[in-house]
Amino acid sequence: MARLDVTEIFHGISYPGHLHTQDSLHHALKFPFQDTDVLIVSYPKSVGTTWMQEIVTLISSRGDPHLSQSSPNWTRAPWLEQYYCADLLKSSTSTPRVLTTHLPHDLLGPALQESKGQIIYVSRNPKDVLVSFYHFHKMANFLPDPGSFPEFLHQFLEGTLHFGSWFDHIKGWTSQAAALNLLHVTYEEMSKDLRGTINRVSSFLQRPLLEHELNNCVKHCSFSCMKDNKMINYSLIPDEILDHSKGCFMRKGEIGDWKNMFTGEQNRYFDTVFKSKMQDCILKFVWEK
Ligand code: A3P
Repeated sequence: MARLDVTEIFHGISYPGHLHTQDSLHHALKFPFQDTDVLIVSYPKSVGTTWMQEIVTLISSRGDPHLSQSSPNWTRAPWLEQYYCADLLKSSTSTPRVLTTHLPHDLLGPALQESKGQIIYVSRNPKDVLVSFYHFHKMANFLPDPGSFPEFLHQFLEGTLHFGSWFDHIKGWTSQAAALNLLHVTYEEMSKDLRGTINRVSSFLQRPLLEHELNNCVKHCSFSCMKDNKMINYSLIPDEILDHSKGCFMRKGEIGDWKNMFTGEQNRYFDTVFKSKMQDCILKFVWEK
């Protein structure tokens, strides 16, 4: 199948052209945030995107799955940088507005400066991000062919993939946590303690849940429920964009899947680059179950 290989280069980072335009990217940079906005931020495949969109939707509906089962995630928590966002928000009356972004902090920081909006940053250990992103590239016709795994690994470490450097993304956002109203959540804590994480997010959003509401959130955010929910599992996306014969968006959902892909040598290469690029960062990562 021919790839939709249209790319927007914006501030040195390349974006899939069918989703992002110069106009939509400029719109994101000047976005008039409201103090009631909730912004979910993640580097792609860090699970911030889908899992946190579902969690926030369910917290807002107090565990009632109606919205999450009737409205696709890209309409209830649209990506700020995508071309349809501005129009969608014009016709939306939902409060708080829930928005999603993969943009790095150095691009979005100025627009957020005056905002008291709530930001949820989700991260995942970068070896699993890389593996998940590699599999996603294989099915996503709007992304370049990923090439071989060693080539892809090299591009990830060099920061030359779409959406730029994972290292700059996580350091940029987390170093601003004190200045922003930002909660940092990791994929690994969501995996190990979903209930506790939902509780933490609901407290941060100042929407404490009753016991049965929390139980419903946990149930509907489980991997199996989300895999079966077409409003979040991306099965509604046509094959020209996401080739479902080449993979599944809700793929494995595991911590440590990188061990099935990395050779010993690739692991040492990754660790060397990681150590050098993260030497100024105190974050700790969970690499296996
Ligand atoms: P894998 O490819 O490792 O399975 P994003 O939403 O940022 O694009 O990330 C997608 C990744 O999140 C995929 O990882 C997907 O399976 C995982 N994921 C999404 N929802 C999940 C859930 N409820 N539980 C565990 N993993 C989930």
